[in-house]
Amino acid sequence: MATGIPPKDKAVRQKKPLRIVYDGKLETADVLSQAYSPFSLAKTVNGDDDNRLYFGDNLRALLYMLDNGHKGAVRLIYIDPPFATASNFVNRNQEHAYSDCLGGAEYVEFLRERLIVMRELLAEDGSIYLHLDGHMAFVMKVIMDEVFGEKNCRAFITRKKCSAKNFAKNAYGHISDYIMFYSKTANYVWNRPFAPWAYDGMVEQYPYIDEKTGRRYKKTPIHAPGVRNGETGKEWRGKRPPKGKHWQHAPDKLDEFDARGEIYWSPTGNPRRIVFCEPDKGTPFQDIWLGFRDSANQAQKTTGYPTEKNFDMLKMIVGASSNPKDIVLDCFAGSGTTLGAAFELNRRWIGVDDSLESMRAILKRFTIGLDVYGDYVTENRHARGSLDLSAKCGFSFMSEKENIPLIDGLFPIRKAG
Ligand SMILES: C[S@@+](CC[C@H](N)C(=O)[O-])C[C@H]1O[C@@H](n2cnc3c(N)ncnc32)[C@H](O)[C@@H]1O
Repeated sequence: MATGIPPKDKAVRQKKPLRIVYDGKLETADVLSQAYSPFSLAKTVNGDDDNRLYFGDNLRALLYMLDNGHKGAVRLIYIDPPFATASNFVNRNQEHAYSDCLGGAEYVEFLRERLIVMRELLAEDGSIYLHLDGHMAFVMKVIMDEVFGEKNCRAFITRKKCSAKNFAKNAYGHISDYIMFYSKTANYVWNRPFAPWAYDGMVEQYPYIDEKTGRRYKKTPIHAPGVRNGETGKEWRGKRPPKGKHWQHAPDKLDEFDARGEIYWSPTGNPRRIVFCEPDKGTPFQDIWLGFRDSANQAQKTTGYPTEKNFDMLKMIVGASSNPKDIVLDCFAGSGTTLGAAFELNRRWIGVDDSLESMRAILKRFTIGLDVYGDYVTENRHARGSLDLSAKCGFSFMSEKENIPLIDGLFPIRKAG
């Protein structure tokens, strides 16, 4: 695998920004100055208001938050908006949950306006994850670059979303979707996530065993592409870096590694760095995620909301890009997977959705608990599932609507006062 060398001349590296042009594209200032109707407290669920659930359109909710104390206050945003599939989605009981019928420029502008407000809500060291599939991921990558800056794109992740299918069309089966990870600035919260080692993988990556300690290790180059004239371009132990390369560290740092026994000298006298495996830590996650398929097996517990995402994946994202007590926002909350993950990891959360079925699913997640996925639909939607988070998580339920429908009698939501 060859690694390219960035040209020294900054002018060569500078690019003209790429912009998508379409009818109806608002100026950023006009997006932020749009009018919205106020939200107010409809009910406090389980007596806590550290966490907030907004029922209504998310553009209006985001603008409301911006004017009501949340500017720069959110550490992490994960969103999984409709993917422009031109479909309606129903829950496990065949009740309408939401429509996904926007497309083209209308879709792009719908999401762009919300992203512009989300950027304002993010803390300077905050991050955003945008989950999409092949319908819109590539055009929205250009919009994300416009809104957050191309240099702040930290990863473009491919996720395996389901098992291989017997695909009837003359094409490859669709088993992937994409998650774009951007930070607001160069300094962002990052707790590197690790996957547990599979023994074969460990042996493959760390093929050597240290005779004294029995620890596994690998040997890696101590040089990198590009010529440097500073310390890292100097001679070390009578050797210059190979042609067109520089040392990865200054000579005094390399001396430190050698003193600690972390430099391997080949029989021909070439140095390489010894990197020990840390079996307890696991292997750092890369940008292809194979282990987070969405629920499709009998034993998994879900709310039954359509397009409910993998809970462990959300736990990893929340753990990687936020710290305890931070605010995590999901303004396309659906069944509240992000909110549940945030709660389990001791973060505060804000959820928004404009679907009544979503409100039901989220209330169910936090009060009754989840049901096993199963093949057969239980007649009683409120049959007690196994209690994952039930009754532990409290939140304020905010609404812009005056007449809020009762949620199945179980949760009579009425505006306070
Ligand atoms: C793909 S689902 C999210 C699923 C969620 N990630 C989960 O794990 O359950 C998209 C959600 O966005 C919501 N939504 C779409 N447009 C919205 C809008 N303008 N305001 C608020 N919510 C919206 C839909 O009601 C739907 O629940």
